[in-house]
Amino acid sequence: MSLQCDIGFVGVGVMGKNLILNLADNGYKVAAFDLDPTKLEALEQQDRAENQTGEARIHTVNSYTELLASIKQPHLVVLSVPAGHIVDDVCKKLIDAGIQADGIVVDTGNSLWSDTVEREKQYKSKFLFFSTAVSGGEVGARFGPSLMPSGDPYAWTRIGPMWQAIAAKVDPSTGLPIERQEPGNPVKEGEPCAAYIGPAGSGHYVKMVHNGIEYADMQLICEVYHVMRSALGMTPKQIADVFKEWNKGVLNSYLIEISAEVLETLDDQTGQPVVDIILDKAGQKGTGLWTAVSSLQLGCAAPTIAEAVYARAVSTRKDERQIAANQLQGPAIDIHGVDKDAVVQMLHDALYCAKICAYAQGFDLMATAAVEYGWDLKYGEIASIWRAGCIIRARFLQSITSAYKANANLENLLLDPFFTEQMSSNHQHWRQAIGFAVMQGIPVPALSSALSYYDAYRCAVLPANLLQGQRDYFGAHTFERVDAPRGEKYHVEWTDAKRPSIHIK
Ligand code: 6PG
Repeated sequence: MSLQCDIGFVGVGVMGKNLILNLADNGYKVAAFDLDPTKLEALEQQDRAENQTGEARIHTVNSYTELLASIKQPHLVVLSVPAGHIVDDVCKKLIDAGIQADGIVVDTGNSLWSDTVEREKQYKSKFLFFSTAVSGGEVGARFGPSLMPSGDPYAWTRIGPMWQAIAAKVDPSTGLPIERQEPGNPVKEGEPCAAYIGPAGSGHYVKMVHNGIEYADMQLICEVYHVMRSALGMTPKQIADVFKEWNKGVLNSYLIEISAEVLETLDDQTGQPVVDIILDKAGQKGTGLWTAVSSLQLGCAAPTIAEAVYARAVSTRKDERQIAANQLQGPAIDIHGVDKDAVVQMLHDALYCAKICAYAQGFDLMATAAVEYGWDLKYGEIASIWRAGCIIRARFLQSITSAYKANANLENLLLDPFFTEQMSSNHQHWRQAIGFAVMQGIPVPALSSALSYYDAYRCAVLPANLLQGQRDYFGAHTFERVDAPRGEKYHVEWTDAKRPSIHIK
């Protein structure tokens, strides 16, 4: 069988296969290549089981040359391969196979955004290098991911209709995802979670920040679980029930929903809650770390995201922690007279406030990067394409969308009137929840870093005055005066008895 396909794919792993099937469900003919023939066989097998059209819609091929020969010109090729040098290896193979200068190659991996910027330049004379960051895991890829494309606007005119067809959809009347997971019956109505982000690299930057927020959100949920489990002595099932209840309100989100499911799942072998069997060592592939590094490089505070990365790092020191657990003193758990339901309510409010701060940090980071790199990011649109399909999808993304639609230049999400009010109503419980955890000796780095971020941000005078004094004392680094125009530099001769303040031109 041979087809003139609309689009070609390199990489038929879990994500590639599901994106291909999603495109096929939406009426696109797809050519697919993978170095591993068993993956092509698995794709063909799944297509045979699911294809209800009676027409050939997926064409598997055995080489890059065959791939290019099977798709319409100008060529449109999607890469679904691991981030890193493999992307370049595949680009070189496509050049060798004869891709033309008007061909488009779309990288969908979790690539480092700055690699994408370099690649666009590097391949300019060979083909158009475009990128689309994908969120939503394997189910998202199959039935509706959130897509963050960036690069040459012409390439977007080619790939855009396909991405909007396969993307997750939001019901505009509620701002909530339209859920449907049936092969051959894609969601066609609703607002697609795919919007052009901007120049090369910007989409992957936005996806990187999405993942940073994802790290923070996951860690925050883990911390409230830890308090309930270790201080309040609740069982995984009881905590799952709390999360299910929370999922009906302001905390409604995919991550809360799956956390409840993880907590109520039992281990086949032992019959125990599977969460009690899973070793407490967290893995990571790097996107949260990149977000934290970028925040440090840009001088934009994102401490809750950074703490989430550190929390994973601490978790990996399992053997050391086991030794320290027997050696280092902390308080004994004491919940005598504690109203457990009240603590659970405090934890709810703490999670909500901290989560708002994590998003505030992520959006602030994107805004800082946009200024630094000359991007015109549309924050309302970014929030809107995170309402469905992606891992951080949550009901309150509708409120974030509204906040940025009302004020595209909002300096910080916390300054939006709705979020200001939410923080005002809930911050007392947040403080109490952290105080409770601290007194019981339960680590809550993300919850408390978010509170410090909130308190620092609303603090008109920070102790940076003393810090500048210290810097000027030992290094003559100068400081600005509160009573002089900004930008004027002053220095004190600290060791001089009279200590004059000298104006430095
Ligand atoms: C998504 C996820 C996805 C992946 C993470 C996992 O949006 O679909 O974020 O990109 O699951 O990269 O990251 P870690 O392995 O670093 O937790």
